[in-house]
Amino acid sequence: MFQSKARSLRRLLRCKHAAVSKASCSRLVLGIETSCDDTGAAVMDGSGAILGESLHSQKEVHLRTGGIIPTVAQQLHRENIQRVVQEALDRSGVAPAELSAVATTVKPGLALSLAVGLEFSQRFVRRHNKPFIPIHHMEAHALTVRMLHAVPFPFLVLLVSGGHSLLAVARGVDDFLLLGRTLDEAPGDTLDKVARRLSLRKHPRCATLSGGQAIELLAKDGDRRRFGFRTPMGQTTDCCFSFAGLRNQVTMLIKKTEAEEGVEEGTLLSQVSDIAAATQHTVASHLAKRTHRAVLFCKANGLLPADNPTLVLSGGVASNQYIRRALLIIAEATGLRLLCPPARFCTDNGPMIAWNGVERLREGRGILPPGVDVSYEPRAVLGLDLTAEVRAAAIRVPSIRMKIPD
Ligand code: KG4
Ligand code: ZN
Repeated sequence: MFQSKARSLRRLLRCKHAAVSKASCSRLVLGIETSCDDTGAAVMDGSGAILGESLHSQKEVHLRTGGIIPTVAQQLHRENIQRVVQEALDRSGVAPAELSAVATTVKPGLALSLAVGLEFSQRFVRRHNKPFIPIHHMEAHALTVRMLHAVPFPFLVLLVSGGHSLLAVARGVDDFLLLGRTLDEAPGDTLDKVARRLSLRKHPRCATLSGGQAIELLAKDGDRRRFGFRTPMGQTTDCCFSFAGLRNQVTMLIKKTEAEEGVEEGTLLSQVSDIAAATQHTVASHLAKRTHRAVLFCKANGLLPADNPTLVLSGGVASNQYIRRALLIIAEATGLRLLCPPARFCTDNGPMIAWNGVERLREGRGILPPGVDVSYEPRAVLGLDLTAEVRAAAIRVPSIRMKIPD
């Protein structure tokens, strides 16, 4: 009893923001993430302070098998979720009885992966009689920045990961306007597939890196001008993305180079760094151009504040420093400040889900009693779809030289 009081007092003293009341600081949320290939959990107080967290990454296994096999991902989530949640709780010193709510990703994502987190969470909230907060994975990526900086709504956000790419105006915790989304694959998926086709696993410096990380590392030593790829959708004046055509261009180049050098598929080409640099540059330019148009659309329609408008970049691919610099060029040219969470909060993690729970708890939105049955949704749009309106506006973007510093 005394111990638990002492723990609560210590937590209140750690409360991150002086402006947040003691009552809301003492609200404790357990966040659980299993939408793709990371099993994550975190306990957070109402001010956004992370009291304890744990993450199990499946990256190693999926790198070995050449991509995420959903049944394997599900099995690994099953094997790890109990331990990951227990570790987060133990590190926080918070007992389940002290929690105010449990927040868990229920959409979008891999069905088999989502199912593990949801089943675990529903059993947990029923056993401990706690409210349940279902979380939209992309909403969580979009709001993570507010855990770290005081960013008021509305702001423009570009989310780029292995499963998604989208541009949206965040107007409130669960109020988004969708300006653009990918028409085929996500940029992280493209980078992962290009890295696999280049057999970067065989490269001594890349063996343990994700495809995106490997491409970023090799691109540093490459000449992006040696191979020019066409930036996708140059003639389409909307804010949607497409990466499948770029992947096709890269694959054709790799095949041609293999034929010229008389080597088999699976051989590490001597030009990998140049191919990596050109691929990364084209992804960065495409993201930058669509974002530029989104800023102009927002300005034309008064969707962002005149004072200190903000562009947020997040999601796994946002860890990429070259892509960050490309977006900085656009932000500076249009008078926006660019904010990116640090890499560990860009890739999937438990704190971002707990934070989304904290934000929803503060606003009293989407909080369910423990007995309510919740379903997972592998596909789920974020917010109100304005992509057709953006296309109809057909905004021409002034050309900006994408002279991105290496
Ligand atoms: O957000 P995330 O952890 O999971 C999804 O929700 O997809 O993103 C993972 C993706 C992978 O495709 C990975 O290759 C990519 O993010 N990624 C990167 C970098 N680090 C991770 N892409 C480019 N540059 C990086 N440094
Ligand atoms: Zn993600």
